Parts: sequence; structure tokens; C-alpha cells
Amino acid sequence: MFQKDLLKGKRFLVTGGGTGLGRTMTEHFAALGADVIICGRRENKLVETADEINARGAGQVSTRVLDIRDPAAVDAVMAAAFAEGPLDGLVNNAAGNFISPTKDLSPRGFDAIASIVFHGTFYVTHAFGKRLIEAGRKGSILSITTTWVWSGSPFVVPSAMSKGAVNIMTKSLAAEWGRYGIRVNCIAPGPFPTEGASARLSPGKMIGAGDYTDDIPLGRAGKLEELGHLAAYLMADQSEYITGQTIAIDGGSMLGGNGGTFWGLQKLSDDDWENIRNMIKAANQKDKAARSTG
Ligand code: HXC
Ligand code: NAP
Repeated sequence: MFQKDLLKGKRFLVTGGGTGLGRTMTEHFAALGADVIICGRRENKLVETADEINARGAGQVSTRVLDIRDPAAVDAVMAAAFAEGPLDGLVNNAAGNFISPTKDLSPRGFDAIASIVFHGTFYVTHAFGKRLIEAGRKGSILSITTTWVWSGSPFVVPSAMSKGAVNIMTKSLAAEWGRYGIRVNCIAPGPFPTEGASARLSPGKMIGAGDYTDDIPLGRAGKLEELGHLAAYLMADQSEYITGQTIAIDGGSMLGGNGGTFWGLQKLSDDDWENIRNMIKAANQKDKAARSTG
């Protein structure tokens, strides 16, 4: 689909690039020749991903441990990245999410999502954009949202609200930063099977709630490489006239009468939700333990 070396000479930073969709995009960028810095909180995931991709011998991947909720740390990582040479692109991929009835959320539960997706995404975008403008260089910012920016979705309200904010940041900055040659776009995926999403969005395959791929017109979840292709296209100079856009890649999910991905969860009982909460919290604890040991 793409010419060899399409992204050669480009340097990108991908948040959450050690796992899931972030890792897939990094693989695609590096295979097309780009050098990529990947960031996240779990060093072992970052290093494992970088080592595997670097062994393939195309673009090189380097790692930085970073919690995007910390604006000072974000600025320091961005300053260090630019000190090594200008960056050409940023992918805002890092996110947090879990399913929960909204009535059961505590303020800390809301903040756990909003501090990553809403605040963290802005911190990274701002630290990147201001340096690009200072350097007088053009570039591309791509954020990974969801189709809930149009439909909303029950049971994931903090995520839907925060992704909606990233969507509108994209349109606002596309207008404000167009004159600097900075393009700002989003990809809005439907369901793609990743470990991080499954543990928090369909623990135990969402007990009794059916499969949320049932309502997808194309009849299946997305393949990771399909998202990798779209991201490579949007980061390449060949799509230089595209800005302020949010492109869905969802097999038509949004058009399938799904009413937001998790509408089917209305069937769950309080006991089901208790079980789900316990499974999600166990997954959160496992990742937290991995972060504290690096
Ligand atoms: C209710 C919950 C909860 C649950 C946590 N909390 N899980 N509340 N139901 N299932 C509450 C806790 O009780 C606590 O509030 C607060 O949230 C913070 O909990 P911590 O465990 O301390 O959170 P923290 O360590 O900050 O972890 C953040 C996280 C975690 C977001 C909860 O999952 C994380 O770091 N995730 C990163 C990766 C991730 O989520 N990937 C999935 C992306 S998929 P109290 O008041 O009790 O102290 C995605 C797909 C979208 O976005 C589209 C699909 C179609
Ligand atoms: P994932 O593997 O859990 O990806 C989330 C990544 O973000 C992880 O690498 C995580 O690494 C990183 N991260 C989380 N909090 C962070 C923080 N505070 N600072 C730095 N990094 C942080 O799940 P995924 O499915 O690939 O999700 C990737 C993106 O796609 C997200 O934006 C998600 O909302 C979006 N999306 C996914 C789907 C899907 O079906 N999979 C659908 C629509 C949209 P650490 O925990 O090590 O920090």
C-alpha cells in the first residue's frame, strides 16, 4: 500500500507506544523508515517493544518513561527530544478507560480517566506544538479518539467526555496552527482487540451482555494493521492538505444502531457490575505493580 521509505527522515513521538494500538502505529512508522520515540509509564513494555522493532532494522525506536499527567515531566521529555533534533510528528495515543455505571463513579474515578485523556493530551500537544512553532517547522499531530465523540456512549462517560474534548481541541488547533504548517487530525477507532482495552472494557467478556461486535455492519472488530495503515497515511507528507479532520475506522459501527458501543450493558445486574469492577481493579493493580517495578 505504501512506498518503501515513505517516512524516512521523519521523527515522531508516540505516547503509549509500548502497547496495543500505539505499538502497532510505531511498528508501521518504523517499517516505513521513521525514527520513533515511544513514551509510557511501564519501562519494561517500552523496552520490549523498542527491542523487537529495532531488531527488524528499519527506522529506530527509542524510549522515555513518562506519565503524561505530569506537565513538568512532559515538558522535560519534549525538551530532551527536540534537543536531539526536531520532531516532525506527535501521536496522542495514551489513554485510560474502564466501564462503570456513571452513578457508581467517585470523583477520583472520573479524574483517573480525565487526567490522562483530557489534561495529559493537552500537555503533550502544547509542549510539542510550541517547540515546532519556535523552530519554524511544519509537522503533524494525530490523536486517537473514539466514535463516541459523535455518538456519546453509556458506561464510559469520563472517556467519552474527554475524547470529545480532544476532538474539539483538534479542530480548534487546526485553525490556529494552520499558518505554521502544523496539521492536526484524529482517528476515531471502533473496537480493536488489545490487551489494555479488553481488560477494562470487556472483562470476562462482559458477562451476559452479548458481543459488542454484533452490531458492526462489517461483522468483525478491526485488525490492528488497518489502523496502522491509516495512521501512516495521515502522518505522511502526501496527506499534507488534510487538517482538522476526525476519521472513523470502525467497520460502520457508528451507523449500525449501536447507540454507543456499550448500550448492550444496560442488561447487566448490580451483581454483574460488582464482578466486573473487581476484574477491572485486578487488571489495574497488575499494571500498577508493573509500573512500580519499572
Ligand atoms: C469504578 C473504578 C474502577 C471501576 C478504578 N476505579 N476502576 N471505579 N469502577 N472499574 C476508581 C478507583 O476506585 C479510584 O477511585 C480511582 O478510579 C482511581 O483508581 P486507581 O486504581 O488508583 O487508578 P490509576 O492507578 O490512576 O489507574 C488509572 C486507570 C487504569 C485509568 C484506572 O486503568 C489505567 O492506568 N489505565 C491505562 C490503560 C487503559 O486504561 N487502557 C485502555 C484504553 S482503551 P476511589 O474513589 O475508589 O479512590 C480505550 C478504548 C475506547 O480507551 C474505545 C473502545 C471502543
Ligand atoms: P492500551 O494498550 O492500554 O494503550 C494505552 C497506552 O497508554 C498504554 O501503553 C499505557 O502505558 C499508556 N498510558 C496510559 N496512561 C498513561 C499516562 N498517564 N502516561 C503515559 N502513558 C500512559 O490500549 P489500546 O487499546 O491500545 O488504546 C490505545 C488508544 O486507542 C487509546 O487512546 C484508546 O482510547 C484508543 N482506542 C482504542 C480502542 C480499542 O478498541 N482498543 C478503540 C477506540 C479507541 P502505561 O500504562 O505503561 O503508561
